[in-house]
Formats: sequence, structure tokens, C-alpha cells
Amino acid sequence: MEKLYPESGVELTPFVAKYYDKLMNVMSFGKYGSFIHKAIADMDIQPDDHILDLGCGTGRNACLMLKSLSDKGRVTGLDISDKMEKQFNTHCQNYSNAEFFHQRVDQPFDLKKSYDKVFISFVLHGFPQPIRENIIKNAIYHLKPGGRFNILDFAEFDMYAMPFYYRIPFQKGECPYAFDFIKRDLKQMLAMAGFDSFQEHLYFNNYVRLMEATKPE
Ligand SMILES: C[S@@+](CC[C@H](N)C(=O)[O-])C[C@H]1O[C@@H](n2cnc3c(N)ncnc32)[C@H](O)[C@@H]1O
Repeated sequence: MEKLYPESGVELTPFVAKYYDKLMNVMSFGKYGSFIHKAIADMDIQPDDHILDLGCGTGRNACLMLKSLSDKGRVTGLDISDKMEKQFNTHCQNYSNAEFFHQRVDQPFDLKKSYDKVFISFVLHGFPQPIRENIIKNAIYHLKPGGRFNILDFAEFDMYAMPFYYRIPFQKGECPYAFDFIKRDLKQMLAMAGFDSFQEHLYFNNYVRLMEATKPE
């Protein structure tokens, strides 16, 4: 399949999509599991939350979120990858309150429903800036007033100030859009879209951040 954004590193090849979770475990020297548990715990999920997961991937994150939800809570995952759809459905097969839709998140869409939380993990950095702004607009559009947007992604940092053992894998593994993303002020981007009440959690030596922002009442 041709890429929508040729320089994007988040439009994965079928091979990378198939082994995505394993690759993350290897690339993080086995630390990905404990990191993602912590980040999802930091989201303060409430039992009845309805959560929209943009670019949901394999469903690994959805399963962790579902563990904090009651039967009334729900996770809706959106992704464009057939390989991810298959893995999401397998991972979440024991949950009747998980659903997957084949949906692009980089252009306007309308699910005709409002959510308590919108989650996006390691997706936003992989697009040109105007497309990131489209994604943020999709998030605010789909949130209830008072709802929270949770962005788990690279934090702001100077790539050239990183120790070489972090810098080299980052430079080799990430796409040019990621190099741009780490220089951007995410809070300002979110404020421009209408969000407020920001809260940040940092991981992996402050190179990764969960940014939480609220849609005003
Ligand atoms: C780096 S992976 C992250 C997956 C997952 N969020 C996670 O943290 O494990 C990026 C995901 O975004 C999806 N993706 C890329 N472009 C997309 C688009 N335009 N619309 C929806 N999903 C997209 C990919 O298929 C892939 O599953």
C-alpha cells in the first residue's frame, strides 16, 4: 500500500505492524511493558469511561485500558492497518466492550459520539505539522465537555544533547517528522485548539511524555 505521507515513520510496513509489540520490547531493552502499564495508570481511567484510541495499533494499550473499565466502559480503536486490525481483534477478543474501526485519523471524521477520553500513543509525531493540527481537532471534536485528551509521545528535547546511545537509535529509527515534533511546544498547540488544564508525566529519562489536556466545560 502506498504511504499517505511518504516520510512518515508511523505508517508501518505489514512486517513491522505484525511484530510491532515485540519490536518495542526489544528496542526498549524489555522496559516497554512496565512503561506502558505506568503511563496508562497515569491516565486516571474511570470505570465507566468511553475511550477513543487514535492509531490504536495492536490493541495492547486497549487491553490495559479495558482492565480498568467496568462493563459500561468502552474502548474504540481506530487504525488504517489490516495487520493491526487483526491483532487488535485477537488481543481484545475476551472483551465485549472493545471495538475496532478502520478509520484514518489524519483527516476530519465524525463517529457521531462523544468520548470521556481520547488517547493517542506514538502517532502524533509522525505527521507534518498541519496534519497534527487536524488530528488535534478530531480529538477535541470527539470529546465531551470536560473530557481529557491523553497524548503519549516524544517529549520536547534537543536531539543533539542526548547521550550517543540514545541519540543514534533515535536518529536511525525515527522519521524527519519526529525530529520536527520534539522541537514543538505541544501545550501551545493544544491551547490553540481550545484545550486547557494541562498535566504532564515524564518517562524514559524525560524523552517520553504523557500530556493530558482538558476540553473546557
Ligand atoms: C507507531 S504505531 C503506534 C501504535 C499504538 N498507538 C501504540 O502505541 O502501540 C502507529 C500506528 O498509527 C497507525 N496509523 C498511521 N497512520 C494512520 C492514519 N492516517 N490513520 C489512522 N491510523 C494511522 C499505524 O497503522 C500504527 O498502528
